[in-house]
Amino acid sequence: MITKETIEKVLDTARIEEVVGDFVDLKKRGTSLIGNCPFHNEKTPSFHVSVAKGIYKCFGCGAGGDSLKFVMELEKYSYPEAIRYLADKYNVPIEEVQRSPAQLAAQDKRESLYVLSAWAGKYFKEQLWTTEVGQSIGLSYFKERGYREEIIKKFDLGYSPDQWTIMSDAAVAAGFHKDYLKEIGLSIERDDGSIYDRFRGRVMFPIHNLTGRIIGYGGRTLKTEKSVPKYVNSPESEIYHKSDVLYGLNFAKKAIMDKDTCYLVEGYADVISMHQAGVENVVSSSGTSLTTGQIRLIARFTKNVVILYDGDAAGIKASLRGTDMLLEEGLNVKVLLFPDGNDPDSYVQKYGSTAFKDYIDKHQEDFIFYKTSILLKDTGGDPIKRAEVIRDVVQSIALIPDEIKVSVFIQQCSRLLDIEERVLLTELNKMRLQKAKAQEKKEQAAPRPSFGDGPPMDMPPADFFLTESERTEIGLPPAEAVQVITAEILQEREIVRILLNYGAEMATWEGDGDVPVAPLLLSALDDVTFEDKPSAFIVDVFKKKAEDFEIPEAKFFFSHEDKDVQDLAITCVSTPYELSPNWNDDKRKIYVTLEREHLKELTIQAVYRIKKRKVEREMIKVQEELKAGGSEADMDILISKYQKLKEAEKLLGTFLGNIVVK
Ligand code: UTP
Ligand code: MN
Repeated sequence: MITKETIEKVLDTARIEEVVGDFVDLKKRGTSLIGNCPFHNEKTPSFHVSVAKGIYKCFGCGAGGDSLKFVMELEKYSYPEAIRYLADKYNVPIEEVQRSPAQLAAQDKRESLYVLSAWAGKYFKEQLWTTEVGQSIGLSYFKERGYREEIIKKFDLGYSPDQWTIMSDAAVAAGFHKDYLKEIGLSIERDDGSIYDRFRGRVMFPIHNLTGRIIGYGGRTLKTEKSVPKYVNSPESEIYHKSDVLYGLNFAKKAIMDKDTCYLVEGYADVISMHQAGVENVVSSSGTSLTTGQIRLIARFTKNVVILYDGDAAGIKASLRGTDMLLEEGLNVKVLLFPDGNDPDSYVQKYGSTAFKDYIDKHQEDFIFYKTSILLKDTGGDPIKRAEVIRDVVQSIALIPDEIKVSVFIQQCSRLLDIEERVLLTELNKMRLQKAKAQEKKEQAAPRPSFGDGPPMDMPPADFFLTESERTEIGLPPAEAVQVITAEILQEREIVRILLNYGAEMATWEGDGDVPVAPLLLSALDDVTFEDKPSAFIVDVFKKKAEDFEIPEAKFFFSHEDKDVQDLAITCVSTPYELSPNWNDDKRKIYVTLEREHLKELTIQAVYRIKKRKVEREMIKVQEELKAGGSEADMDILISKYQKLKEAEKLLGTFLGNIVVK
């Protein structure tokens, strides 16, 4: 048990802004610090930290408390766990009241399980480092794999002797109860009530929770026989909930926050090898498919995930499915493939850490493009299979909650799939509508909660329980309005994308010699009003700056106060067209890769498309006016107007058709 003095010292030392700051990006606002609340999903910060008072408070979800409460709530720590965490953070030595093993067992059960787990960790470590078999079999195995001593120590790696009861016997002798050994799965019970060791003759990989306490183990066999399972893992227990644990996260979380990226790998070995190579922002789901709990865990630290696959096709296909969940949680997902069946571990061991880092920097691809290309490869030009691919890809895109990202992906996939944006959009909007309808049905089917006798503690807003049809009846907007993205929006955003990425580049086509892309583009679009608000804003800034012969840089918009403007700018520049060279097996992809070299086509196409759309709209308007009737003179004017528009439309159409896509 931790002494009262230690607890007081910890609470005195802990500073709320530092404790919270490890998990939340805090910005100064007046006398308090604010950030996005880690306890609920939000886009605009309502989470306040008062340094003077030593407390936090979220005005969105109501969460609030001091440093201790913060780590308890966020990390789901028990009181002693939270104290230990803070003591560790501030280097406060923990004084404990000494207790006998018997007293230990009587203590709160979870705590005892932790203590037992830690004891076993120490036991396996001692076996590895100090016994003859441990050294000759376990330690030499790790060293053969290229692990250095400090990394073996850092990850608390160990060895379980190849005997039936040696660990269980030692644990019982140390005062641990058999029931607890069974509970956390270190021992297994025989029919006669005796117990034996689960891990025998294996190298041991302890699994730590976020505070760094051991909660389970993976044990790898050193035998090569197929009949022996390669890994034996601890079962679920009161301290080990597999779906909420990611291997390596305790070692990785700081690096994940610093780099604002998390690498996701398959195995223990990959995590450890990457750490040794100096890439510490890496976690593993330990061979199982990702769970929502694990994804939310990552999302607490970063929104950017890169999945590192080994190159085997079956594995890739399987993981495509799991990845949709990442998109749904609003994460930016990239993938990275290793060549020739290598996994991160084997690649780094074979080529060294410099080559490894270089490789992972250069070969990340956006998940959606990756998926598109993988699926396309299999179609062999079959139109039915192609249609399936299109649906499949659009389905993934439809999961992404951020509308601006969606529109950029639609645009880019339209190029990859060589299919009109309009078609993809129709498909996308159909899917969204279906999803919204299904959601509505579910809500109608669910019995509505009643308030019972008294008012509930946290009263939801008055319109919270209304069904969609009730909302319409009383004139409320739909609870979750279906976002419809139109072709116009896409076209306008494409203009913005060109401006932000290539605005200052010299237009190199004939006659336009020394003029940058931005002024050319702007003058061509002089008569076009933008409907998409963030696009209109950015174009407007470009226009204003153009008067002073300036071209704003993309980063000018990155910290703009309007979140939509910010998002649009960031998305436009952070989803580059340049794809990796292995995409070049198709002409269309070469075009995409070399976008910069085809600025002329890109720009003209973007302008013409937007103009064509506007002309078409104008035509519909004139048609309606014609239908409405009027004096003969008026009609004549309208008819000639219509004809002019028609000509313009045809001309634009021909131009667009004639642009050779190289
Ligand atoms: P791998 O077979 O890739 O394991 O499985 P590894 O960790 O890279 O091991 P080495 O390189 O062969 O030593 C990936 C992960 O799947 C889980 C483990 O978590 C492993 O790290 N796994 C694999 C099991 O749980 N049981 C198994 O039998 C195999
Ligand atoms: Mn491996």
